[in-house]
Amino acid sequence: MTPFPPIPAERLPALLRAMPKAELHMHIEGSLEPELIFALAQRNGVSIPYASVDELRRAYAFTNLQSFLDIYYAGASVLLKEQDFYDMAWAYLLRAQADNVLHSEMFFDPQTHTARGVSMETVVNGLHRACTDAKEKLGVSAALILCFLRHLSEEEAFATLEQALPYRDRFIGVGLDSSEVGHPPEKFARVFARCRELGFRLVAHAGEEGPPAFVWTALDVLKVERVDHGVQSTRDALLMQRLAQDRIPLTVCPLSNLKLCVFPTLAQHNLGALLDAGLVATVNSDDPAYFGGYLNENFVQTFAATGLQAQHAYTLARNSFEASFIDAQLRRRMTDRLDEFVLGA
Ligand code: HPA
Ligand code: ZN
Repeated sequence: MTPFPPIPAERLPALLRAMPKAELHMHIEGSLEPELIFALAQRNGVSIPYASVDELRRAYAFTNLQSFLDIYYAGASVLLKEQDFYDMAWAYLLRAQADNVLHSEMFFDPQTHTARGVSMETVVNGLHRACTDAKEKLGVSAALILCFLRHLSEEEAFATLEQALPYRDRFIGVGLDSSEVGHPPEKFARVFARCRELGFRLVAHAGEEGPPAFVWTALDVLKVERVDHGVQSTRDALLMQRLAQDRIPLTVCPLSNLKLCVFPTLAQHNLGALLDAGLVATVNSDDPAYFGGYLNENFVQTFAATGLQAQHAYTLARNSFEASFIDAQLRRRMTDRLDEFVLGA
């Protein structure tokens, strides 16, 4: 691997920002900025229980995952029409381009919308059109991953899968998100088995607030190829060995972990420990409108707080391409772009 040459500390933020990278853990509904929430509320005649953008932003003081999810689902209630989904995704993809993201795999939560009477077609078509335009107009490759809400039932997940199958060419995989504690991966064993038969790529949130045991069952029962968050894995030495040996990527989200109090400070984040243990860790923004920053902000703030260096940046960017679901040719092209960037640094 080409290591980054050592660089002075003051040059590190600019290097992190300019570095080509992929983003693999970003919930598109979590990219809804308060300004867009208010604009869509007005456009659609939806009332929201906040008087102003500032008041809404002030409500973004979370104590744990659930306290965030309550506001996140309320924010998504302004999305009704295909154009709303397009506008939301387009706004994120512009930010991704500005952050030198070459490829993004975006989660979406259809059950949040179908429960309000918005059709699967509306959701998927709006998001997919933004992905198509991103490739053409921004040079950003983008793909969708459908997430099942784990606080809902297996039956509801199966019904959602049924509704989504007419659009199966518009998303590459399935994931599992929402309230982790009390909803272990194995609750969705049969849903994921079916998705695997159908040829979807598989990921799941595990080990964000939940125990290492949930990472084990995500791997061994759901048979996921990538673990979202997974930061609790450092509590289980055998699990760390397994993740390293099988090169199972973790999509780590440092600012999310800080805002949801998974770590008391960014300086105490275990990203460095995950890399030192040889894990395929990546950096991601999770819900950037709610957690204080898009992808580059996650890189810059985390590196400043933890003392990670240029060679860690290279490893993280390289991991992001390795962990992505792009084909081998595109992976080669993107990794080459990273290596060219390093040589010019
Ligand atoms: N965890 C679980 N569910 C989510 C998250 C998260 O970080 N963001 C959006 N839905
Ligand atoms: Zn997430």
